[in-house]
This record gives sequence, structure tokens and C-alpha cells, in this order.
Amino acid sequence: MITRKQLISKYIEFFKSKNHKVIPSASIIPENDPTVLFITAGMHPLIPYLLGQKHPLGKRLVNVQKCIRTTDIDEVGDATHHTFLEMLGNWSLGDYWKKEAIEMTFEFHTKILKIPIERYAITVFSGNKDVKNKDEESINKWLSLGIPKERILFQEDNWWGPAGETGPCGPDTEMFYWSPNDIRPPKKYNQKDKDIKWVEIGNDVLIEFIKEKSGKFVKAKQKNIDFGGGVERTLTVLNGLDDNYLSEVFFPIIRRIEIMSGKKYNESKEITKSMRIIADHVKASVFIIADGILPSNTGQGYVLRRLIRRAVRHGKFLGLKDFVEKVAEPVL
Ligand code: ALA
Repeated sequence: MITRKQLISKYIEFFKSKNHKVIPSASIIPENDPTVLFITAGMHPLIPYLLGQKHPLGKRLVNVQKCIRTTDIDEVGDATHHTFLEMLGNWSLGDYWKKEAIEMTFEFHTKILKIPIERYAITVFSGNKDVKNKDEESINKWLSLGIPKERILFQEDNWWGPAGETGPCGPDTEMFYWSPNDIRPPKKYNQKDKDIKWVEIGNDVLIEFIKEKSGKFVKAKQKNIDFGGGVERTLTVLNGLDDNYLSEVFFPIIRRIEIMSGKKYNESKEITKSMRIIADHVKASVFIIADGILPSNTGQGYVLRRLIRRAVRHGKFLGLKDFVEKVAEPVL
């Protein structure tokens, strides 16, 4: 059993021991980017530094960032998608590059979190129409660390960013964890099993491009590393669970909904789904309000209004009335 606090503290302490400086989570509301409504990834508030501005704390940073992702809102209701999430992040701002980044991520996963290599798989960039080069350097590094080649998959879509319309982006290499306890991990990493059984627990983005307004990708002056790892899903799989809502960061909210509605979380597919949507949306709303937004007809306020409305609609389905404030209590 590992708690959210333990996971975060192991991560921060590990990267501190690798000379990273800890920075606080920025607000969920972007300060310098009018092209997006919310911070969607840990790198987002750091864009000026990824573009070359000097960070006052140096070239190696680590944190846990609050994020809101509305692009996946229609998926919320399954076991793994959320509007609000926390992201573990470490960065090299023009300092270490691929090999060291991969070594550190691997050490964190296998030595600190003690993930057995049999449960580990990797994806690497194969090249695509915009950027032709296959990422041989990353694959060689993974092989040298003992990852069998059947567990490394090349893909065109191993690419991340930019966070807005333009900006830093690049190929990435992702780490997956075999989650079922009752099925032995297969020798080969199988794309078909990806979404259900191989859970993505980390992504090292190898930022070496800038996407321009014209849509062109140009080589960046400064190469950076941007690691991101979802707290909720990592916590879930490390604890042997197959549903993020059963983990410590969601279950108290689900429990509150169960008590208030007199219904069981697993009573039916529809009930499970509605309870998840209420828990997710109320949690996201609390964090948006905490960063200074109130419901309104435009921008972030409109997203907030829609989240609360959707929660209310699903609450009605469960027979709940005037419940939002009470469901928010465990989040608070
Ligand atoms: N920025 C990368 C992500 O969000 C790490 O996956």
C-alpha cells in the first residue's frame, strides 16, 4: 500500500537527490497564455523557461502540478479519465538530455517505486511525416537498461505538445505498467492491450522542436526534458486497483455519494458512471473555484458552470437534491 502523500514525497525526494529544485504548483489558471483556459500539464507554466529564459532556481526543476483537461470530458465516467488531475513533473531546462532522463525515470520506477521489470513496457518515437528520424538513442538506452526489445514499441504518435497552439514540443518515450494482478504480463508489449491492461505511468518528452503558427516544426535552440506522470493512475496501479475511483484520492467522495443517495457504487453500470462523473466534476469545480474562478457565461467560469450542471444532472439520476456542497466536503 502506498498513499498519495508517500508517492509524491518519494518522487520529490528522489529528484531532489538528483539536484532538482522544488517549485510549487502554479495556479490552474494560466498566467501568461491567453490561448488556453486551463493549465493542462506541468510544463505549461514553464514555457518561457523551456524557450530559453533563465529560471531563478536553475536548470533542474521538480514539482506536482494541478491540471485541468477538458478535452477528455466525454470519457469521464470510465475508470481512468478525469477533468482534474495532479501531475508529477521533472524538467531539464537545457541541462541533461535523453540518456540521463531515461536513466532517472527508470531508477525512480524500478528502484524507488520497486516496479518489477516484468511489468514494464516502453514506447518510442518512430518518426512521422513532419519529423522523419526514428529515436534510436532512446531505444538503445532502454535496451542497455535491460528492457527486452519485445517490450519496446515504435509509434508515430509518440509525440507531445505543444500545450497551446504553438511552442515547445517533441518526440516522447512513455512507460507503461502491467496492471492486472491475476494475469501474467505477456512477453510482448501488445498495442491491443494498451488501454486496459498496460497503464501509462510516465512520459519523458524530449523537447527539441518549436511548433510555429504556420504549423511548421523548427529545431529549438534549447533542448529540454519534460517528464509527466499522473498521480491518480500511478497510485491506483501501485495499489493493485483497476479503478482510479477506488483509490484514496477519490473513494471518500464516492463514499459520500453512496451514503447520500443510498445507492451502491457497483449497483449498475449507469450508477457507477454517474457517481464517477459527480466525483470528478465536483472535485474539478472545487479546485477551479479555489484558484479564483466563479461560475459565469464565458471562459473558465463557463466551463465551471458546465461541470457543476453536469454533476447536478447525474445527481438527479441518483435521486440527489442540493448535494453539491456536501459532496465537495471530502475534496475540501
Ligand atoms: N507534458 C507531458 C504530458 O503531459 C509530460 O504527458
